[in-house]
Amino acid sequence: MNMDKSTSPLIEMRNIVKDFTGVRALDGISFDVYPGEVHGIVGENGAGKSTLMKILSGAYSPTTGTITVEKTSYNSLSPSLARMLGINIVYQENDLAPNMNVIENIHIGEEKTGFPGIMDFKAMREAVHARTKDLGVKLDIEKKIEDLSVADQQFVKILKALNVEPRLLIMDEPTSMFNVEDAHKVLELVRRISGRGIGIIYISHFLSEVVQIADRITVIRDGSVVHTYDNAGRNTSLDTITRDMVGRPIELFFEKEAAPIGEIILEVQNLKLKKDSPGVSFALRRGEILGFSGMVGSGRTELMRAIAGADPYAEGLILIGGKKAVIRSPADSIREGVAFITEDRQRLGLMLHASVTENTTLVGLGSRIKGFFINPRRHGSLIQYLIDSLRIKTPSTESEVVYLSGGNQQKVVLAKWLYAEQEIYILDEPTRGIDANAKTEFYKLMSRLTKDGKAILLVSSDMPELISMSDRVLVIRSGEVTGELKGADINEHEIVKRALGVNND
Ligand SMILES: Nc1ncnc2c1ncn2[C@@H]1O[C@H](COP(=O)(O)OP(=O)(O)OP(=O)(O)O)[C@@H](O)[C@H]1O
Ligand SMILES: [Mg+2]
Repeated sequence: MNMDKSTSPLIEMRNIVKDFTGVRALDGISFDVYPGEVHGIVGENGAGKSTLMKILSGAYSPTTGTITVEKTSYNSLSPSLARMLGINIVYQENDLAPNMNVIENIHIGEEKTGFPGIMDFKAMREAVHARTKDLGVKLDIEKKIEDLSVADQQFVKILKALNVEPRLLIMDEPTSMFNVEDAHKVLELVRRISGRGIGIIYISHFLSEVVQIADRITVIRDGSVVHTYDNAGRNTSLDTITRDMVGRPIELFFEKEAAPIGEIILEVQNLKLKKDSPGVSFALRRGEILGFSGMVGSGRTELMRAIAGADPYAEGLILIGGKKAVIRSPADSIREGVAFITEDRQRLGLMLHASVTENTTLVGLGSRIKGFFINPRRHGSLIQYLIDSLRIKTPSTESEVVYLSGGNQQKVVLAKWLYAEQEIYILDEPTRGIDANAKTEFYKLMSRLTKDGKAILLVSSDMPELISMSDRVLVIRSGEVTGELKGADINEHEIVKRALGVNND
């Protein structure tokens, strides 16, 4: 408990309104952060969290409202003014230079010079070394960014943000790409940083994470603050928070409904990504959800990409419906009835400057078999049905997806493939960045798919998701299947054991 409320707040936002063309993103938000406080912000996709943070970091100007820092009030900040005032943001996008090492990355833009024009590498190394030691971060600081795990790259981004000695650090979904252990390390780091008196704004859709870490939690809905909870006891109830987020009680846990398991629809035989990689074999049946677990970097994504035609593979056989499938491109896999949903929505999933409707119907138009989802009495069209059930927040079906919030863009990717009605769904981290309520709705749609005889491959680092949705789980380690789990054996202990390669109990 580091929060010091005897002093005045580090920053104070008052009655912030932000209008975009046709959309009021923020509708009079007041919000403050004290020195040493971790202030959590939660809310559904599109609630206004990132917009509020962009105003605080100077990327956007508010339409009206004030920001007070050190007794001075501003109508808006610029990025440089925000930095000067000690406000720094850890961006979600990776803004590190991949072929430079950790030390260089942390110092880019403000190299310490011993002599005019010469960077003092020794001083930089010592500074970075001292900082990592001080914060208890284990990191090979001589390594290039591209050789680090995603988690370690995230630590570098945080260290870089700390290098300018901020008084307020903003973290927008810092653990969205992490597994449980790495997320735990980030929380530990957040505690250490706030222990130094730095204020932290922590945004996440992992609500239990927010309850563990935050001193106060502010819930935002439709651009307004619903409530700010004192969470000093780390015991604010998730039910209460989600009810505030959505405006009504919701079910947080969804039990997969059993679907009849039918014939084999996909068979992968001795698939090798490279000549010398291990061969992977498995079969997937209609009605089945086959989960893939493993550490980040275990090779699950690469395997899925190969099956979906996004990357080539060296050898092996893919049979779909008992027939050899030639899949050399994403177009081939679409023709074979495969849907490939990834978290990489900007690169693979969406045409950012096309509308919600255009994106949703991109694959399915023409080939779609009607009648699966649609309930015409309740919904005018399948598109509207998908928008409603996934709670896609968009001004209209004709809005460009580039203006939707991160989570809502991901929902459009889901809608596109649900609309397309393929036979095999490959889902790689499908619910990353998606709010709890929409997750539950998506799980229901997954269940409906399987009941309709479709089959699903599910890669997920979200343990509860993987465990509750999978009929079977294959554990992958270094590109190899190291275990198959069924029924009661699908639990975190059994999965982690195989993912790490520890055999003793
Ligand atoms: N540049 C923009 N132009 C138009 N509308 C925008 C723009 N940026 C954000 N919006 C809208 O403002 C609202 C809030 O978006 P914001 O990105 O702040 O949501 P969020 O709470 O961060 O959601 P998520 O959890 O999905 O990241 C959304 O309705 C979004 O469509
Ligand atoms: Mg956001």
